[in-house]
Amino acid sequence: MNILILGSGGREHSLAWAVLQNPKCDRLIVAPGNAGIAAIADCASLDINDGTAVVEFAECEAIDFVIIGPEAPLAAGVADDLRAAGFTTFGPSKAAAKLEASKRFTKEICDAANAPTAAWARFTEAGPAKAYLQKVGAPIVVKADGLAAGKGVIVAMELGEAEAAVDDMLGGAFGSAGAEVVIEDFMDGEEASYFVLCDGLDALPIGTAQDHKRIGEGDTGPNTGGMGAYSPAPVLNDVVAKRAMDEIVRPTLAEMVRRGTPYQGVLYVGLMIKDGAPRLVEYNVRFGDPECQVLMMRLGAQALDLMQAAAEGRLAETQVNWADDHAMTVVMAASGYPGAYDKGSRIGGLDTLLETSSQMMFHAGTSESNGGIIATGGRVLNATAHGASLQEARDAAYALIDSVDWPDGICRRDIGWRALK
Ligand code: GLY
Repeated sequence: MNILILGSGGREHSLAWAVLQNPKCDRLIVAPGNAGIAAIADCASLDINDGTAVVEFAECEAIDFVIIGPEAPLAAGVADDLRAAGFTTFGPSKAAAKLEASKRFTKEICDAANAPTAAWARFTEAGPAKAYLQKVGAPIVVKADGLAAGKGVIVAMELGEAEAAVDDMLGGAFGSAGAEVVIEDFMDGEEASYFVLCDGLDALPIGTAQDHKRIGEGDTGPNTGGMGAYSPAPVLNDVVAKRAMDEIVRPTLAEMVRRGTPYQGVLYVGLMIKDGAPRLVEYNVRFGDPECQVLMMRLGAQALDLMQAAAEGRLAETQVNWADDHAMTVVMAASGYPGAYDKGSRIGGLDTLLETSSQMMFHAGTSESNGGIIATGGRVLNATAHGASLQEARDAAYALIDSVDWPDGICRRDIGWRALK
């Protein structure tokens, strides 16, 4: 099978690594990829948000199966273009990708499906939005309706912060993504993510994870795209997971079918869990990054079979082969991230790392330059490992981190603290 993966981050490196372990994969191309991906697969320069260009490329390369990594091409309808051209494609249609591309859409779906989530209201004018903030009070959550590169959600502990977020968003700080804001009640509890493959009607859970979104140890400081993750997440135990499926995921999928826009792909179900009761925080229409890295480390070669079964509508007859295992990934970021950071610093020690089926340094933001590897992003490397216990996975992941010679790199040293304490 010739396989094309769209994307260029640590998520796509881990997808490529898992797919290549499956003997069904004859040839793998990742577009555009990065320096780590280029060491294991062919990389191609391609505008992955341009459906016509992606279809032409897939035809030219005789691709049999396409896996779409990030949300932007999904929201742009690239999966629709590929399917219309006859390509088996993993990822939702543009209409179904609204579960991530519009916060208002997700809240409307939750209301229609009676799925537990925070109370909410939507606004396009600052005056009524601020009057609502005064009425509900802080803490409170302000979200830009559209895609804002992970920056469009403000959890405001004070009213002034919430009002400033409303002014920023409606004032154009996120372009058209902020033309409408959704204001939600603050939910307390412990956050975890549930990953569920969907083929329209059927759903198959493939794992749980917990991410560390803050830059600082002890979960402090500004939000990032995620500084590390581990799987499974103890708080999302079997009882909570069953409730999440019965009360949130299945009713959502049924509502999407009822609207004529069935959901196919992976559904990232962001949950707030309190006293064993899950409530929906958000949906994403793709694997999390870096959560995908720990899921792929645990699933290995079967990840390809599972994604193919979702794309072909065969989940009812598909099972996951579970192991009683754990995985952790630790993100190395460029100093300064998530604020301004320098690009181009040289990273040493990568060529001598011991990389095996249970430990890998996935690349998130790297390029090759003059025979070496340089940092080209905010989040740059994901040291990822697998073990019989979370402690074993942690020790192996940090041993990888400690083998890298990159003075400009930073990481948190407390990934997994909740589960390890
Ligand atoms: N790690 C959070 C996300 O992928 O959205």
